[in-house]
Amino acid sequence: GDLAGFAAAIYRRGVPVVQCPTTLLSMVDASVGGKTGVNLDMGEGPLADLKKNLIGSFHQPRLVVADIDTLHSLPPRILRSGLAECIKHGVLGADTGDPNLLDWTQANLPAMLRGDHGTLGELVARNISLKARVVASDEREEASDEKGGRALLNLGHTFGHAFETLPGLMGQPGSLPGGLQHGEAVGLGMIAAAHAAAFLQLCPPAFATRLTDLITVAQLPTKVSNLPENGKIVERMLHDKKVVGSVLRLVLPKGARGASIVRNPPMQAVEAGLNSIRFSDQTP
Ligand code: GLY
Repeated sequence: GDLAGFAAAIYRRGVPVVQCPTTLLSMVDASVGGKTGVNLDMGEGPLADLKKNLIGSFHQPRLVVADIDTLHSLPPRILRSGLAECIKHGVLGADTGDPNLLDWTQANLPAMLRGDHGTLGELVARNISLKARVVASDEREEASDEKGGRALLNLGHTFGHAFETLPGLMGQPGSLPGGLQHGEAVGLGMIAAAHAAAFLQLCPPAFATRLTDLITVAQLPTKVSNLPENGKIVERMLHDKKVVGSVLRLVLPKGARGASIVRNPPMQAVEAGLNSIRFSDQTP
């Protein structure tokens, strides 16, 4: 979808595009809002220095067709990956017009994992509505840090992109063939963000526990092995394309009150986040 959208954006300086997402992640996130792009590996070997969405443009689709029937044939791991973005929207719901979304998502995760058609339909509809409201208020992600705007949708992503682009990470030894899925990395990124937020007293520690529990119920990884030392990950986070002028800008949850943007967070907070997803037998 991202590649087709990008091709549509540049072919003859732009042609109309219709997105027909067939994964949960694309239905609730990637196909909506007009971000298109491709990743580029800037290093020498595979994933040596993968930059997420380095080349891209904003190009709104004319139409998004999300057919819930397509979700029933998804490999379970790919469905679960989409649930991470839905949990993210749940956390943002308080500020974005659906304050009950996190509770509803938590209560209905088992039905979603079972593939219950009606529940998946409501999930997709509510998540698309939320994302559309956020994008309509700040299409090009230009809102100030105080307002938050579209950048709030990056909750879990600055940590997550660093994990996703690291070769050789595993959720439990041997359990995640092919590296981390985007949603798996975002789930881990949200756990790290919540622990960083708890360190900064932006949210109670119980919220970090609640988010970790939700991600566990969604059968997504909550810890990884083979994580390099914290300094190396921070270096990667600083190379995220969302970073301007080497200043880290994290979206951190405020518990049940949504999220806010924190510029230049103390390194101890970032490390508290990273340590929260590290298997305890590993040195930071
Ligand atoms: N996936 C984040 C955004 O569309 O802004």
